[in-house]
Amino acid sequence: MNNKEFITVTSPLLPNLEEFHVLLKEIWDSKWITNNGSFHRRLETALAEYLKVPYVSLFTNGTLPLITALQALRITGEVITTPYSFVATTHALWWNGIKPVFVDIEPETGNIDPNKIETAITPKTTAIMPVHVYGKPCNVKAIQEIADKYGLKVIYDAAHAFGVEVNGESILNAGDMSTLSFHATKVYNTLEGGALVMHDEQTKKRIDYLKNFGFAGETEVVAPGINSKMDEVRSAYGLLNLKQVDTAIEARHQVASQYRKALRDISGITFWDDIPGVKHNYSYFPIFVNAKKYGMTRDDLYTKMKENGILGRRYFYPLISNFSTYRGLPSATRENLPVATKMADEVICLPMHHLLNAEDIQRIINIIIR
Ligand SMILES: Cc1ncc(COP(=O)(O)O)c(C=O)c1O
Repeated sequence: MNNKEFITVTSPLLPNLEEFHVLLKEIWDSKWITNNGSFHRRLETALAEYLKVPYVSLFTNGTLPLITALQALRITGEVITTPYSFVATTHALWWNGIKPVFVDIEPETGNIDPNKIETAITPKTTAIMPVHVYGKPCNVKAIQEIADKYGLKVIYDAAHAFGVEVNGESILNAGDMSTLSFHATKVYNTLEGGALVMHDEQTKKRIDYLKNFGFAGETEVVAPGINSKMDEVRSAYGLLNLKQVDTAIEARHQVASQYRKALRDISGITFWDDIPGVKHNYSYFPIFVNAKKYGMTRDDLYTKMKENGILGRRYFYPLISNFSTYRGLPSATRENLPVATKMADEVICLPMHHLLNAEDIQRIINIIIR
């Protein structure tokens, strides 16, 4: 099959090349290419405004803000988290020497089930790390109530939740901090990149130290920080992408509407609708295959799609709790995670990006409808 005939699960949002050249020239002329330069500062300000959050600290990817948030809040011992995510969520705990405790998810959202959190709390629990999976908002109110009751911190992995709002408020304002990923595959990208969202200036200052080796001045190091600064080239690229992200999200919205219309009555195929009051970002379009009703397993449909040039992805299969690093944990058993296990066995994320056209969408739908 010719490469052009493949429909990939995503396609990066790329800034206008000529506009990018202009900004590159500015960077070249200034000779300031990293370390809190003017584009870095401008992008932090622009993102805070766009996302309706008080403070943003840019990072070089979406994994290091997770690791750094845990350090900044001095999280130790055990952290309650979800197995239904990208592996970086749990790796961030591992890198801090923290034991992950997996809690099952809700069938309605794919997010951690607040009703199952309390029984997983032990004297060693210090925090909860939920994920707004596919950009669908967690039940932040219920999670905060549990956190307040037991004195726990909450760090949201909001890698998928760029721009998501509930009743006009950014979902990124929930919890103690939220992290974002600006990886090429995300709704908004800076090639590689990410950010931490925090509520106050003091925390922002501390995070800015931690992402710069712990430097608090020319000769003062206040913590064993890491290097996870975003450079000027990617910050400039990010500023340009911010101008077109709304248009890209609207194009994704149209794709989601067409999928929903065509797949609504296919026996054995289910998907989620938009939630009233939520501003979605349409970052993914997961469908769930009930093999008995559909007459074909998820893996057979996945393979059939692939053979026809349609590259869906089984996000999130396998569960994080099934990877060798984590499967020995007491909380990693199938019995503890029945909803997540079922979802991981049934899910396929259909191609979802701003460049899909009507012909592409029809080709995808035809394969599923048969
Ligand atoms: C839920 C989740 N968390 C964290 C990450 C890590 O982000 P990055 O790839 O930018 O390091 C991803 C990324 O792809 C993700 O999907």
